[in-house]
Amino acid sequence: MSNKMWGGRFGESPDAIMEEINVSIDVDQHLYAQDIAASKAHAAMLAAQGIITANDAKNIAGGLDTILSEIKAGTFTFKRALEDIHMNVESRLGELIGPAAGRLHTARSRNDQVATDFRLYVRDAIDSFDDDLASLQRALVKRALEHAGTVMPGFTHLQTAQPVTFGHHLLAYVEMVARDRGRFADARKRLNENPLGAAALAGTSFPIDRRATASALGFERPMANSLDAVSDRDFVLETLSACSIAAVHLSRFAEEIVIWTSPLVGLVHLSDKFTTGSSIMPQKRNPDAAELVRAKTGRIVGSLNALLMVMKGLPLAYQKDMQEDKAGAMEAFAAMSLAIRAITGMVLDIEPDEARMKVAAGEGYATATDLADWLVRTLKMPFREAHHVTGRIVAKAAEAGLALHKLPLADMQAVEPAITEDVFGVLSVEASVESRTSFGGTAPENVREQAKNWLMRLEKE
Ligand code: ARG
Repeated sequence: MSNKMWGGRFGESPDAIMEEINVSIDVDQHLYAQDIAASKAHAAMLAAQGIITANDAKNIAGGLDTILSEIKAGTFTFKRALEDIHMNVESRLGELIGPAAGRLHTARSRNDQVATDFRLYVRDAIDSFDDDLASLQRALVKRALEHAGTVMPGFTHLQTAQPVTFGHHLLAYVEMVARDRGRFADARKRLNENPLGAAALAGTSFPIDRRATASALGFERPMANSLDAVSDRDFVLETLSACSIAAVHLSRFAEEIVIWTSPLVGLVHLSDKFTTGSSIMPQKRNPDAAELVRAKTGRIVGSLNALLMVMKGLPLAYQKDMQEDKAGAMEAFAAMSLAIRAITGMVLDIEPDEARMKVAAGEGYATATDLADWLVRTLKMPFREAHHVTGRIVAKAAEAGLALHKLPLADMQAVEPAITEDVFGVLSVEASVESRTSFGGTAPENVREQAKNWLMRLEKE
């Protein structure tokens, strides 16, 4: 049997391979709610413009509602021979209401239909990421407030650098996530225009009202150029870019969890809820969830790259290549959502080993900068000279196998005679973090204030 939709021009059925490569229903059936909403808006507009009768519009809307409930109930049979969601819905509509179903496709093409459906779908995905990311921020802030004064080692080059607080470290991610949310919000703003009514590529001769369908579907305005409306997938690319950057942030945090939970480091503990064991090594506690968040990032960035490659050589207007935009994006969105929720779970679960953190914070002469700053402040030494003097004192301590605050004053004075007993006041890790009160610094009082500000901002949303 030749195709129902375009059978007029065709005598033969497609080859099985043609059908297999062409079919998209496995993927685009996930657009059913958007497809039906867009069709309802389109039918209502057609009637309001006098293009179809009010009665036909009513029957179409009723039929579409029935289809929606059938799909939701799992009683709808998706047919591969009907290729995609658009034709599956339309064909079922025909079964339900008869020939009036054929009027729905007036002044419309699958090209503007799919662009509309997918914009609505991506917009929903963005909204749910925003909710999930807000929950992640709330979890981070809650833990930051609990650990505003918990001292841990701060690293650069993964070498112990200066003491920081665990709360400060967590708030760093709150800031990153805020920018991620900003990127999603920007993408949402740009994508929120209506392609419906662009028809195949050139617009239509029917007196349609694109503003009406735009507002019915929650779009800001109709897209201004019909070719652009059906040709571009930059809204998917932009959203996948925002996903990729957000996922990289999550991945870095996941990597930190992996490092911190390693017995070699031992800074934090994850409960059994976020840990797995080994089938052979009875002692193992593996941070699989963190590792999988790290790995999902690869798939998310991969789907961005894949779609960039699909799009880069396409002339205007619609090309079937663009059908390949959905599978990767949907997979990436699912991975994104899971990764955000997994990280949120781990943030709430994680318990720092405060004693171990404190010891580690003081290892590797982490308060050497505090000593140099003391020389600058107390002896009015230029910082470059203070750096040199401190370096020599650190070398002495290393030679003696002592931590900086355990090195006898006499040994320090052998390097710089003007050093006094006072210096010991700045060499502890607590004193170090408490002194970092500059705006954005790690001092516990700063962290408490920032965390409270964030709590207020997040509650107001
Ligand atoms: N399944 C198609 C897609 O996802 C829908 C648009 C088909 N348009 C066409 N002219 N064949 O892109």
